[in-house]
Amino acid sequence: MRQAGRYLPEYRQTRARAKNFLDLCYSPELASEVTLQPMRRFDLDAAIVFSDILVVPDALGQTVAFVEGEGPVLEPVAGGADIARLDPDQALRHLGPVMETLERVRGTLAPEKTLIGFCGGPWTVATYMIGGRGSSDQAAARLFALREPEAFAALMAVLIETSAAYLAAQFRAGADVVQIFESWAGNLDERAFEAHVVGPTAALVARLRRQIPDAPVIGFARGAGPKVVDFVNKSGVDAVGLDQMTPTSFVRAAIAPKLAVQGNLDPLRLCAGGDQMIRESDAIIAAFAGRPHIFNLGHGVVPETPLENVAALVERVKGQR
Ligand code: CP3
Repeated sequence: MRQAGRYLPEYRQTRARAKNFLDLCYSPELASEVTLQPMRRFDLDAAIVFSDILVVPDALGQTVAFVEGEGPVLEPVAGGADIARLDPDQALRHLGPVMETLERVRGTLAPEKTLIGFCGGPWTVATYMIGGRGSSDQAAARLFALREPEAFAALMAVLIETSAAYLAAQFRAGADVVQIFESWAGNLDERAFEAHVVGPTAALVARLRRQIPDAPVIGFARGAGPKVVDFVNKSGVDAVGLDQMTPTSFVRAAIAPKLAVQGNLDPLRLCAGGDQMIRESDAIIAAFAGRPHIFNLGHGVVPETPLENVAALVERVKGQR
């Protein structure tokens, strides 16, 4: 959850050496350096490869840019003709530098540390491809799916196929586990959540496991609320990433105890630090005692986060082992 990022001064320094954000993602030298920076500073158990979910549309041939102070901006796909022009056959070659980053990191990372690969969930990536940028309601993509179901289905099929091949390649390059980020799963009704999130994630996981049997997968469907139960029961994931809006009591009551959970401290509690952070992280650990639990945030580290808060949190969590 943006374990490497702008809150780290050494990240900002390395970032300044790249021409732009995508160049940083595609430079194995710089991206592996950035991946390892938080591992050097803190006693973390896992590294997540440095990249972005939007390298997939970029690799498919869509125009993607990261605009300073604004975030990602894409040339939106407007209909079936734009979708037909996407080129899955050369996408993996384009993503080769990410696999080289994984190889480099695995070569340096201590053997007991886990290396996490990732991709965006098909729905979340589609919301950027259709809307052209992040939006709080994803209205463009939700409308597109309703008005042009065939073109939308074609886009999702391309994303499922490309993402499965991409995750398989990440395992071959040294990833121990992968996470699927469905960060914009929160505004869908029950039927649309089933159609755009649960079904496509299940298809992606099944396709991945045809290439890498038993591939361990963490699914993160941010904002799913009670629909997270359906997500874990039907998608085939081994672990579920929880946002901070999900009550731990709900998870204990509704999700089978053998399923691993990951989360779910509010990133702003980490940013503010102090007693409230320690109390809440202790409470999360206590709530998930007796089931497999990967302690994490409920979403990404915010850039204003003081380094000493991260150090204090890691120390507290590791001390509870
Ligand atoms: O440390 C890690 O978590 C690994 C690297 C990683 C990044 N993005 C680096 C990044 C991962 C796993 C992502 C995933 C990602 N990217 C998601 C899903 C997770 C989530 O946050 O919900 C999404 C929706 C994106 C798309 C994206 N990339 C946005 C909306 C932005 C702008 C937001 C911002 O904070 O500026 C990015 C840029 C981005 N990706 C940054 C980082 C460290 C900041 C870029 C910078 O250096 O300016």
